[in-house]
Amino acid sequence: MASIKQHDDYTFNHMVNVCVLAIAFGQRLGLRRQDLAQLGLCALYHDMGKLHIPLEVLNANTNLSEKEWAVMGNHTVFAARTLFPLIEADRGTVNRILTALQHHLRYDGAGYPRLRIRTTQSLYARITAIVDTFDAMTTKRIYQRQYLPDEAIALLHRFAGERYDPLLVKAFVNCMGIYPIGSTVALSTGELAVVVESNPDPDRIHQPKVRIVTDNAQLTVPAQFVDLSHPVHRGRTIRHCVDPEKYGINSSHYVF
Ligand SMILES: [Fe+2]
Repeated sequence: MASIKQHDDYTFNHMVNVCVLAIAFGQRLGLRRQDLAQLGLCALYHDMGKLHIPLEVLNANTNLSEKEWAVMGNHTVFAARTLFPLIEADRGTVNRILTALQHHLRYDGAGYPRLRIRTTQSLYARITAIVDTFDAMTTKRIYQRQYLPDEAIALLHRFAGERYDPLLVKAFVNCMGIYPIGSTVALSTGELAVVVESNPDPDRIHQPKVRIVTDNAQLTVPAQFVDLSHPVHRGRTIRHCVDPEKYGINSSHYVF
């Protein structure tokens, strides 16, 4: 992991984020403790092959050429090759190899790497693919704007059954909510709010608990705590996520 951090700080942070999020998701899926540990390691090492991808390809801020895409795609195979000799010492390495190799394979098998034998993604690879996309989309990169959490969730929905396991996408949305904790949202009343707790009722995931952070477009202190599923707040509905930076809102102040 130290070599990855030295090579590319973003990749290191991304691997750690995917690990933490995958464990939280796995917990919600009801995985046993030892399976959660396996999932965490699979997610942590999923992109380790990027250590062998030149930085000019890894951080290219223009569209990659076909040749560069092929180089980038090789990170899946590089990781599998690096991990393979460790199987003898730790049988759990097989899970890590499969996740690294298959996390871009897609649910319908149409992704990469193209393998001679047709395989389907392992459970850990399917989980990692979803979490990987969510973290990559909601992080600002040189070549990509930071997508809002509801946009990332919408994309996962759109490609459920093609790129992603549809059942796992449904479970992920139930776990995160349509508006994940920390999201800044615009309400039907014109107020802005920060999501602080998701609604565990799958029929009410669009009604999380929030803190209202504005009053007449001015930031307010303290922020009012509101349960949007409570009948008293029937007139307050979430319209969409907004970029907190645009309004000078530091959402972490309200969540923790
Ligand atoms: Fe990857």
